[in-house]
Amino acid sequence: MLTCSLGFASGTGSRYTATGSYDIEDGMEYALDRFVREAHHAIAATGLVAGHLIELVTPKPNIPADLAFPTFRAAKEAGVTPPHLAQRIAEKAHAPHGSLIGSIVATGPFVNFSLDAARLAAAVLDEVERLGARYGSDDQGAGKTIVIDYSSPNVAKTMHVGHIRSTIIGQSLYHIFDFLGYRVIGDNHLGDWGKQFGMNIAAIVRWGKPEGDDEDAIAALDKLYARYSALVKEDVALREEAAEWAKRLERNDPEALAKRAWIAELQARAAQPNHDDEARAWSLKLEQGDPLARELWQWMVDLTLKANQRNYDRLGVRFDYTLGESFYAPMLDGLIQEAIDKGVAYRDEDGAVVVDELAPGLPTFLLRRSDSGTLYHTRDLACIVYREREFRPAKIIYVVDSRQELHFRQLFALARAMGYAQETELIHVKFGTIFDQQGRPLSTRAGNMVYLADLLDEAHARARAVVDQASPELPEVEKEAIAEAVGVGAVVYNDLYQDPRRDIRLDWERMLAIEGNSAPYIQYMHARCCSILRKAADEGVDAEQGDAALLTHPAETAVIKQLAKLPGAVREAGERYAPFVIAEWCYETARALSAFYRDCSVLKAETPALRTARLRLVAATAQALRNGLALLGIKAPERM
Ligand code: ARG
Repeated sequence: MLTCSLGFASGTGSRYTATGSYDIEDGMEYALDRFVREAHHAIAATGLVAGHLIELVTPKPNIPADLAFPTFRAAKEAGVTPPHLAQRIAEKAHAPHGSLIGSIVATGPFVNFSLDAARLAAAVLDEVERLGARYGSDDQGAGKTIVIDYSSPNVAKTMHVGHIRSTIIGQSLYHIFDFLGYRVIGDNHLGDWGKQFGMNIAAIVRWGKPEGDDEDAIAALDKLYARYSALVKEDVALREEAAEWAKRLERNDPEALAKRAWIAELQARAAQPNHDDEARAWSLKLEQGDPLARELWQWMVDLTLKANQRNYDRLGVRFDYTLGESFYAPMLDGLIQEAIDKGVAYRDEDGAVVVDELAPGLPTFLLRRSDSGTLYHTRDLACIVYREREFRPAKIIYVVDSRQELHFRQLFALARAMGYAQETELIHVKFGTIFDQQGRPLSTRAGNMVYLADLLDEAHARARAVVDQASPELPEVEKEAIAEAVGVGAVVYNDLYQDPRRDIRLDWERMLAIEGNSAPYIQYMHARCCSILRKAADEGVDAEQGDAALLTHPAETAVIKQLAKLPGAVREAGERYAPFVIAEWCYETARALSAFYRDCSVLKAETPALRTARLRLVAATAQALRNGLALLGIKAPERM
C-alpha cells in the first residue's frame, strides 16, 4: 500500500495543508497519483530505503519542487545522516522512460521530485478531454451508500436563512459523494410532526384557514401560530398568578384575605380548560387520525412543500426522499418500549420516558412526555433504525445547525446504546449562523430576518444590475438567465467558500464582486474561456489538435497543475465533508487562469501550433471549472 501525505489533494497551498494520508491505490489513478507512485517506486528501486519508510510530502511553497521525501526516519534506521542518504538516493534513483518525473534532486535532508511540465500537460489535458464532465470523479465509493439528511425545514414555517445553509451545504456534499462513486440518498427530513401542529390546528380552527396557497399563506400561518402561543403564555401567567395568590391566602396574607372573592374568580378562570390543553387535544386527535386534524395537517404539509419547491428549483436542489418526521410515527411506541427493555430508558412517576445519562456529561432527555407525546429525539431514533434497515448506509450525514450539536450527541449515543448503527458512521456536519451586513445575527424579533426567497430575489436583482452594466448588448432572456445564475451562484458560494463552522455575513458587495473570492469572479473567468473558444471557432481554428507538450510557460504550467489537483480536491472535500475545499480550488484555478491570460496570448500566440495548444488548455480549464462549480451547485454561464 502506498501512502502519501495529502499535499496534492488540496488546492490551497498553505491554508489547508496536509491533513492526513490517503491510500493511492484506492480509487482512480490520475496524473498526480501516477507521479506519486513513480516517485515512490524510484526511491524503492534504489534499494536504499525499505518500502514502509517511504512517505512523501508536499514541499513548502518556497521549494521549487512538487514532491519531497524527507529522509529522517530512513536515515536513522540506516545509521547515516539524512543529507547523506538523500544525496545517495538522488544519485541512484532515476525516472523511468516517459514518467511524469522531470528531475530528482537532493536538497539537504530531502529528496525533491519535480514534475516534467510537458508530460504533465499532455497527461492532464488528455484526462480532462477523455473524462469531460466526469473529470475529477472517482470510484472510491463504489458499492457503498451514504445517506445525507439536509434542508429539513419545518412545515408551516417560512424557510429562512438557517435552512439555506443546510440546503446548500447538503446539496454540495451530495454532488461530491456522488462524484466519488457512492450511492447517495438525499433525504429532506421535514419537520412535520409534533406538538406544534396541535397549536397550528387549534389556531386555524379558532381563527380560520389563511387564504391562498403560497408563501403568503405560510407567513399567515406563522402569524397565527405566534398569536396562539401568546395566548398559551397568557394562560401560564394566569395560572402562576392564581397559584401565587393561593399561597398568600394560605399564609393569611392580609392583602390576599381582602381580595378573597377576586382570587376565587381568578382560580376558577385558571382552572378552566386552556389553550395549551386545546392544542394538546388537537395534537392527540392528529395522532389518532381524526379526519379534520388530518385534513388541516395535510394542507399545511402540501402548502409548505409547494412553496419550498420554488426555492429548491432555483438552487438546483433535489431529494431522493422527503420522508419527514411523521413517517416514523408508527415506529415510535415499539422503539420506546425497546429502549426501556434494553435498560437505556425508564418510565418515571409521571409516565414520562426518560433516557439515562448515557455518557458522563451527556444530559438525560425524554423519549415520551408525561402527556404521552413523543419528541424530536424519538422520531430521529426511529429514523436511524429505518435508514439502517432500508439503505444499509456506510454513513449517515446530518447537515444541521451547530446549535443542535447536543441533540445529535444524545441521539447517536442512544442509537449505539440500543445496538443500532454499529457499522454505520453517524456524522453531524455543523454550521454557524448567518449575520447581516452590519454583523448582527438575523432574527425575526430584531426585524432583520431574511427569507430564502427574498434573499434569492435580491441577489438576482443585484446581479441583473451587474449584467446590465457588463453586457448591455445581450438579449433580455439571456440577461435574465445570467442574472439568475450569478445571483444564486453568489448566495451559494458565500455559503460554501469557507469552513461551515464559521458564521457568514451577507455582504452583497463582496458576494457579487467580479474580482476576488466570489462566484461571479469564477463564473466570469469561465465565461472568458468560452468567449475565447467562440472566437477561435469563428476564425476556424481547430482547438482539438494542439500539442500539449508545447505548454511549458510557467503560467501555463501553473494552470495545468491546478487542473491536476481537482481529483485530489474532490477526495479531500469528501474526507473532510468540506465543500470549501472545492470552492478554494475553483478560486485558485480562476486566479491561475487570469495570470495565464495576463502573461500569454491565446488567439495571438507566437505560432499557430502554440495557439492551438493554448486553446486546448483553455477548453480543458473551462471544463474543469464547470465540474468544480457543478460540485458546489453553481451554474457556469457561457457569457457574462
Ligand atoms: N427540522 C429541524 C429544524 O428545522 C431540522 C432537522 C434536521 N434533521 C434531523 N434528522 N434531525 O430544526
